[in-house]
Amino acid sequence: MSLLVKGGTVIGPTGAQPADVLVEGEKIAALLDPSYSQTVQADEVIDATGKYVIPGGIDAHTHMELPFGGTAASDTFETGTRAAAWGGTTTIIDFAVQRTGEVVQDGLAAWHAKAEGNCHIDYAFHMILGGVDTDALKAMDQLVADEGITSFKLFMAYPGVFYSDDGQILRAMQTARENGAMIMMHAENGIAIDVLVQQALARGETDPIYHGITRPAALETEATSRAITLASVAQDCPLYIVHLSASGALEAVAEARDQGRNVFAETCPQYLYLTLEDQLGAPGFEGAKWVCSTPLRSKHEPHAKDLWKGLRSNDLAVVSTDHCPFCFKDQKELGVGDFSKIPNGIGGVEHRVDLIYQGVVDGQLSLERWVETIATTPARMFGLYPQKGIVAPGSDADLVVYDPNGTTRIGVETHHMNMDYSAYEGTEIAGRVDTVVSRGEVIVADGNYHGRKGRGKYLRRGLSSYLV
Ligand code: URP
Ligand code: ZN
Ligand code: ZN
Ligand code: ZN
Repeated sequence: MSLLVKGGTVIGPTGAQPADVLVEGEKIAALLDPSYSQTVQADEVIDATGKYVIPGGIDAHTHMELPFGGTAASDTFETGTRAAAWGGTTTIIDFAVQRTGEVVQDGLAAWHAKAEGNCHIDYAFHMILGGVDTDALKAMDQLVADEGITSFKLFMAYPGVFYSDDGQILRAMQTARENGAMIMMHAENGIAIDVLVQQALARGETDPIYHGITRPAALETEATSRAITLASVAQDCPLYIVHLSASGALEAVAEARDQGRNVFAETCPQYLYLTLEDQLGAPGFEGAKWVCSTPLRSKHEPHAKDLWKGLRSNDLAVVSTDHCPFCFKDQKELGVGDFSKIPNGIGGVEHRVDLIYQGVVDGQLSLERWVETIATTPARMFGLYPQKGIVAPGSDADLVVYDPNGTTRIGVETHHMNMDYSAYEGTEIAGRVDTVVSRGEVIVADGNYHGRKGRGKYLRRGLSSYLV
């Protein structure tokens, strides 16, 4: 099977160029000068005139089926990867979980069992370590060597659930420094947060808004700085701060990067577009729809503006979604009368490519930075490049034809995620995913879905390209 994507403008890290993309089987065979490709024959032709052709999105932070707070994230690998495909994402990196007390490899096997045969797009795993001990450190080496898992998430938040203390963090970082893995950090001071949570509940402050109020930006900044310090003590172990939301945390990352340190960070669309005030304005218990950690920040502080700037300067290298959806009914509602029982998370895997494109329309980012932050850099950061993340000969033919003259209206009636609400209800994007190609197969076209569950493959990852 050959496919020619004709007439579009290909966007890559070095800029935009008019080029026709020739696909043979699952791979990109060539980028052709448009005048030359008149002579090329292909089995199928996609007309991309007036549109951008970009590498398929890579969402490096999702939580399909994650057990949390007595329930589980509402998207399965099947529904979540299908929604991702609709939104122009052709690879996810999900988080397999070692629960505290569990053997790391058993946690990984459980995640493979959830995903295998169910994914619509390609997928890889990071590993959450819920109990760093000698066995877990050995398992890190084994996962890097044999399983294609080269990044490990630790939590400074959630005492009693996933939490690691500073000693555990340091030991995991030392191991990562040795085997070349990346440490990903949920940087919030969970011990201090738990004190604030208990005090708020004792005062009768039980509404969803107190979730954010008891997780102040200062405790994200403190934890981020501490993680950076611990990584330096571990001989500059590569460190990646996840779901960064606070200006102070970004400053700490920027300072480390100015020193040439192996410190990286991502942010998520919710921190660029949604605020604590949106949550506060929601009637009744509906503020629970925007409960996530790190929390949404106040519009009266410069966080969102600073995050856009961080994306421009590369102090924020990646935009991921932290897709962790829960329905309002029966899931978010578990926290009625006690905000600390609201399952944490926002679903957004379908909307990342569009929401960050809106940043281009709004003058926040260049086209090249759009593509870098949603596809190229995540591929490089997590050892998938150049198989993924670039429109170039030899790479997987994961392509999105993006229509800058289209419109996307986000809402529960039209989205494909398994959620009974949208955190972005009513948001309109000045752009639209037109066609999605995954390993040479057209899976979204003309507003129709042509993919199928089980076609997505597990990707073994290499070490980060950014490792020094
Ligand atoms: O609220 C969030 N972020 N839920 C998912 C788990 C995590 O900490 O990433
Ligand atoms: Zn987290
Ligand atoms: Zn997460
Ligand atoms: Zn069709």
